[in-house]
Amino acid sequence: MAVELTTRVLSADGDAIAAAARVLSEGGLVAFPTETVYGLGADATNGEAIARLYAVKGRPQFNPLIAHVRDAEAAQLLGRFSDDARRLANAFWPGPLTFVLPKADECPVAELATAGLDSIGVRVPDHPVAHDLLAAFGKPIVAPSANQSGHVSPTTARHVLSDLGGRIDLIIDGGATSVGVESTIVSCLAEPTLLRPGGLPRDAIEEVLGHPLADGDKKLDDAPLAPGMLASHYAPKSPLRLNARDARPGEALLAFGPDVPKAACALNLSPEGDLVEAAANLFSHLRALDASGARAIAVMPIPNEGLGEAINDRLWRAAAPRA
Ligand code: TXA
Ligand code: MG
Repeated sequence: MAVELTTRVLSADGDAIAAAARVLSEGGLVAFPTETVYGLGADATNGEAIARLYAVKGRPQFNPLIAHVRDAEAAQLLGRFSDDARRLANAFWPGPLTFVLPKADECPVAELATAGLDSIGVRVPDHPVAHDLLAAFGKPIVAPSANQSGHVSPTTARHVLSDLGGRIDLIIDGGATSVGVESTIVSCLAEPTLLRPGGLPRDAIEEVLGHPLADGDKKLDDAPLAPGMLASHYAPKSPLRLNARDARPGEALLAFGPDVPKAACALNLSPEGDLVEAAANLFSHLRALDASGARAIAVMPIPNEGLGEAINDRLWRAAAPRA
């Protein structure tokens, strides 16, 4: 990797936004909070900046990026909305929902960001810092989660610093993110299809559509269509044991709900069994238990409803054999 940078960390205010917009326009990289996780932003129209972003993340080049824009009007300059996509955008934007759409004819996003596909991922984040940055910069910002490829997504500025410090120009610290898992991705290239469960539960989407979402091909792992779905994408360093009813000697426990078995080292995603709270705590608890030096992390069962679908998806990936 090239020269070591000094990574500035600024708390979110007007000066930080102005500094971040300047860094982006010079082709630099800025980590910023969204409501889901911290994103690593680059000017979506600047191929060189995007190449640097891939290098910093250590991300396979075929993995396309999500373009973030400030509102639905700006999104229409990037992708072509079907009627269903329009309806969903009206209902859920700004918010944790990403569409994959056919690229618009005059789409200004650099070819490298979409990995040569003729589709594009677009999202309008619901976070004041993300919104102000998009407004100040005035162009779309591509932003994958601000972690090294293969690590869990960051939900605080400190997580970003520990993963990418010395490799990016600036981190805007806007506190912990509220949703805690990445956006739900729905492809609207044909019938609406769930490519990644995430911060917006499936049932909310299906209620607006009036019919079930199609399910993305589970063999996505090898397919260039949604390569971010690599099975071990979210792996912490310690192995995970799922659906655990107890913690074995040497294991740390990732608990859920009020009835928690004994463990030397435990963190509870939500003592009250609230899936929204559990999603918000997922990645920071995983990081903390991973850093505890435990032999493995035992994970209690999580109900597979609402946000539980996204939580279980990430846990399953974290537990999958490493590539
Ligand atoms: O919540 C989020 O979505 C966060 C925040 C920062 O916005 N971003 C995020 O980006 O999770 P990333 O790059 O870590 O995950 C984006 C996923 C990848 O799995 C990628 O393959 C998929 O979106 N994707 C992007 N464009 C696509 C396209 N045209 N077709 C299929 N999949 C696409
Ligand atoms: Mg990611």
